[in-house]
Amino acid sequence: MLNKINEKKERAILVGAAAGKTSMRVAKEHLAELERLADTAEAETVERVIQRMPKYNSSTLIGPGKLEEIRQLCDIHKASVVIFDDDLTGSQTKNIELVLKEVKVIDRSQLILDIFALHARTSESRIMVEIAQMEYTMPRLTNMWTHLCRQVGGIGTRGPGETQLETDKRLVRNRINDLRKKLKKIEKSRVAQASRRNSKFHIGVVGYTNAGKSTLTNNLTNAGVLVEDKLFATLDSTTRKLFLSNTTEVILSDTVGFIRKLPHHLVASFKSTLAVVRQADVVLHVVDGSALSYSDHMEVTTKVLKDLIDESVPHIIVFNKVDQITTEVEAKLSKEFDQALFVSALEDTGILSLKERLLMEAELWSDRQGRKTSSSQEIEVIW
Ligand code: GTP
Repeated sequence: MLNKINEKKERAILVGAAAGKTSMRVAKEHLAELERLADTAEAETVERVIQRMPKYNSSTLIGPGKLEEIRQLCDIHKASVVIFDDDLTGSQTKNIELVLKEVKVIDRSQLILDIFALHARTSESRIMVEIAQMEYTMPRLTNMWTHLCRQVGGIGTRGPGETQLETDKRLVRNRINDLRKKLKKIEKSRVAQASRRNSKFHIGVVGYTNAGKSTLTNNLTNAGVLVEDKLFATLDSTTRKLFLSNTTEVILSDTVGFIRKLPHHLVASFKSTLAVVRQADVVLHVVDGSALSYSDHMEVTTKVLKDLIDESVPHIIVFNKVDQITTEVEAKLSKEFDQALFVSALEDTGILSLKERLLMEAELWSDRQGRKTSSSQEIEVIW
C-alpha cells in the first residue's frame, strides 16, 4: 500500500461531501486543499465531485447515484485513483471498490500518511510514519481477510482466515511495540539534548502547512531550507544558529506544519517531533495572511498547541505573504489581532520589525531570569 500512489503520476478524482451544516463554500475549500495534497503525492487531479447531503451514507459515504456518476467519470477520465476528503471505514472502502472495480480508493488520512512516508528522511520520522500506518491498517485487517475469504470462498476458509487474521494482528502489534521502544530511545536522547539547552531562550515557530515557515527561516538565516509550494515539505525538525544582532546568537529549528483533520495516529506519533516546541519560551505563530481560511488554519494550530504548550507562554502572531493581500485586508487583520506582525518572507518586508520583536522578547525573558542577554548567552529559535 505504502507509496503506491507515488509510483507514477496517477490520475485522481477527488470526492467531497457537504454533509449536514457544512456549506458548499467550505466543502470546496477543503477539496482545494485535498488537491494540493494530491499534487504533493504526485497525482494529477482530473475531476472534482462534491455531493450535498443531509447525512453521510453509512455503507458508501456518498449516495449510490453519485457513486455511479463517479464510476462513469473514472471511465471518461481514465482515472486510476479516487480520493475521498472524508475518512472511510474499512467496509465503506470495500463497498466503494466493488462499484468502482479496478480503481484504487483511498481517503484523506491515507493520502496524508503516504505523503508523510514519502517525506520522512530521518529514522525517527520513518518510525513514526510506520507506527501510524500500522495503527491505521489494524482495524481494517478484519475487512481485508473477509474480502480474501470471499474470494477463496466456501467451507473451510473461514477457520484458517480467522486464525490468520489473529496471527497478522499479533505480528502487527509486536512490530508496533518494537518500533515504540526504538522511538522511546530516540526521544530520551532528544530530552537529554533539550535539557542541555535549557539555559537558552527558545522561540518555537509553528504554523499551518504552507504558511511560509521555511521561507521565513531562509530569510532570517540564509539556511537553504527546502521551500516548495507543496504541503509538508518539511517533516523533520532541524536546528540552525544565526545572529539576531551583533551580539545575540539565535538557533532555529524547523518542525512539521499543522493541517486540518491530521490523522489522529499521526498526531500522536509526531508529538515527539513537536516536543521541541514544548521547550519554547515564546511561540512564533506564522499564518498565511492571504489564505481565505486563515482563521480555520489558526484554530487548527492553536488546538494542537494547547496540548503542547503552557498557556502562559507568550504567542506572537506573524501574518506572512502580505505581498498577496490588499491594504484593506491587512487593516482588518491588524484590527482583529492588534499585536500581530505583518511580513513577506519572500519579498523581505517587515523582517526587521520581526527581529526587533524577537530581541525584545529575549530581553524580557532575560530580565525574568534575572540576567542580561549578552554575547555569551545564546537565544534559541525552534522553527
Ligand atoms: P510546510 O513545510 O508545508 O510546513 O510549509 P512552510 O510553512 O514551511 O511553507 P514554505 O516556506 O515551504 O512556503 C510555501 C509556499 O509559500 C512556497 O511556494 C513559498 O514560496 C510561498 N511563500 C512563502 N512566503 C511567502 C511570501 O511572503 N509571499 C508569497 N507570495 N509567497 C510566499
